[in-house]
Order: sequence, then C-alpha cells, then structure tokens
Amino acid sequence: MPKSTIKGLGFYVPENIVTNHDLTKIMDTSDEWIKERTGIKERRWVNDDKLSTSLMGTYAAKKAISDSGLDKNDIDFIIFSTLSPDYYFPGSGVLLQKNLGIKEVGALDVRNQCSGFIYGLSIADQYIKSGMYKNILVVGSEIHSGGLDKSSRGRSVSVIFGDGAGAAVVSATDSDSCILSTHLHSEGKFAEELAVIKPATTFWIDKIVKNDDESYFPYMNGNFVFKNAVVRFEQVIFEALNYSNLKTEDINLLITHQANLRISQYIQKRLKLTDSQVFNNIMKYGNTTAASIPIALTEAYQSNLIKKGDIVVLAAFGSGFTWGSALIKW
Ligand code: COA
Repeated sequence: MPKSTIKGLGFYVPENIVTNHDLTKIMDTSDEWIKERTGIKERRWVNDDKLSTSLMGTYAAKKAISDSGLDKNDIDFIIFSTLSPDYYFPGSGVLLQKNLGIKEVGALDVRNQCSGFIYGLSIADQYIKSGMYKNILVVGSEIHSGGLDKSSRGRSVSVIFGDGAGAAVVSATDSDSCILSTHLHSEGKFAEELAVIKPATTFWIDKIVKNDDESYFPYMNGNFVFKNAVVRFEQVIFEALNYSNLKTEDINLLITHQANLRISQYIQKRLKLTDSQVFNNIMKYGNTTAASIPIALTEAYQSNLIKKGDIVVLAAFGSGFTWGSALIKW
C-alpha cells in the first residue's frame, strides 16, 4: 500500500502589518492586554481589494509546488480548507484551480475552520493510501479581516485573527518517511460557541435589516473555547502518539494550530515538552485558522527546525468544535 509524505511546502501572507498599537487607534484595547492574553504582537490584514482567499492560496500553492520539485500538471487533486471563501458558492478550490491553470482534476472544499488543514491532510493521506491519487495539493487560506467587528464591541474576537495562506503537496511514497496517522473529531453540540451565523440559509441577506445586528460578525465564547481547546489538544496529541507507540519524549517538533500562545504554552507544560520541541509563530500572524498550521510548518521547515527522520506532530482545535492531529515521520 502506498504511503503519503509532505513533498513541498509554501506560505503567503499579505504585506500589510497591523500591530497591536494600530488596533488601539480603532478600538478600546492595549498592546499589553493582547500580548498578555494571546501572545500576539502583530497580524497581517489584507488592504488590497484584489487579494482574495483563493488568490492567497494560489500564491502559497505555487511555492509548495515549486518546493516539491513537481509541475502543476502533476497535481491530481486539490483540497482547499477555509472558513472565509471568496464566494458563498462555488468553493475556493475551483478558483485556485483556475488561477493555477490546472486542468479538470477534482477540487474539494473543506469547511472545518481551525482544523481544516488537518482534515484536508487526512483526506489526502487516505486518497493516496487507497491508490486513487499520487500528488494532492492541500491548501489552507483565510481572509478574516474584512468580516471582523473592528469596533470595541468586537475586540475580544477581532484582535486575535489574521489573514494568510499555507499549502502542502502531499505525495505517494514507499519510504518510511511518511504520514504515520491522522485523527479527526468533532462535537456539533458546541457549533454555535465559535461561529458566524449570518448570512445563511436560515437568515438570508435580505433579512439582515439592522446595522447593529451582531450575528453576522464572528461570535466566540472565548473562555469556553479555551477550556475545551486545552483538553482536546492534549487528548488528540496522545491519540496520535499512542497509535504509533510513541511518547512525548519522541516528539521532535509539535506544531499546534496557532489559536492563542497561552493555549500552546499550556499544552507544552502539560506534555512536559522543551522549548525546542514546540514551534509557535502566532506572535507575528495571529490566528489564521485553516492557514495557521501550514504557515507554521513551512516556517519551521524553512528555518531548518525539521530534519529527516524527525517525529512531527500537528494538532488543531477550533470552531465546530472540531479537532484533529497528524503524526508525521519526516
Ligand atoms: N482589549 C482589552 N480588553 C479586552 C479585550 C481587548 N481586546 N477583549 C476583552 N477584553 C476585556 C473583557 O471585556 C473583560 O473585561 P471585564 O473583566 O471588565 O469584563 C476582560 O478583558 C477579560 O475578558 P475575558 O474574555 O475573560 O478574557 P480571557 O482571559 O478569557 O481572554 C481570549 C480572552 C479571547 C483571549 C481567550 O478567552 C481565548 O483566547 N480564548 C480562546 C480563543 C481561541 O483560541 N479561539 C480560536 C479557537 S481556534
């Protein structure tokens, strides 16, 4: 049975840097509060109308394909994870396909928010193991900035989120350097604890009559999300380790979805991991949802923090609630 490996990585973030200090000019917040509660110092917010979620994903994908040494025509399936698609429909996968000029391969959109990249990676892994495809492009891309409530009313949500895109080429391999396992979960009873409710088929746009209607901005029950996140991250990391009979000491690098530095630090402490076993970059980019893991993985890889044979654990938790992990032997 073929196995799958990450053959190429790339990421793209918009040029426009928004510091915590910049946010103090538009809402009642402070650099100290944001740094202390989330670890974030700055994030990227798109300020170019031409930049879309699919276009940012395309830029990241081009870099990942180039890094893999393959040609775009070698890609035989596209998986695009996002909660901020260009259009209500069609999905962003086909738009990326158009941008890249890839002919008639399947394109699938994944709607699993912060866990979207792990879900996409898991789908790619299974398709490759089944022999159906050989080289799958997995993309996570988000533009949050346009949909945030940037007034003081929305400050507990809007300071956290950033824009960006990351991509991986997942390819068939015979080598032992491969994705060892993936683990996916969700708990729909908490679907509304972190959500954008409108517009939707239950609330079509024409029913949104009042400008002060908060329900078309992201809602997040922050404390509740935090408490669930720390439990689920730990569970799903151990699920992955146990599957391969590995221990926390065997982890060379843990990359969690960059939700909040305090969440990552809490997990690091619980798992008794050293600083060199954990990679974080939320300080620079904020929470980029489906893009956060591929951006962090690419940065870690480009900084030579991952070498052949390393055990790399990826773990995500987010809206849905959904969560998942992937264990990779590099
Ligand atoms: N600037 C200044 N003050 C703010 C603020 C901001 N941006 N946002 C909220 N506050 C205030 C609140 O109004 C509250 O004031 P009060 O005590 O006078 O009522 C106070 O800060 C504490 O708010 P609270 O929401 O309890 O803070 P917290 O420590 O829970 O931190 C989050 C808030 C959102 C940072 C935290 O809950 C969190 O990170 N949760 C997880 C979010 C997450 O990971 N989401 C993505 C999942 S993938």
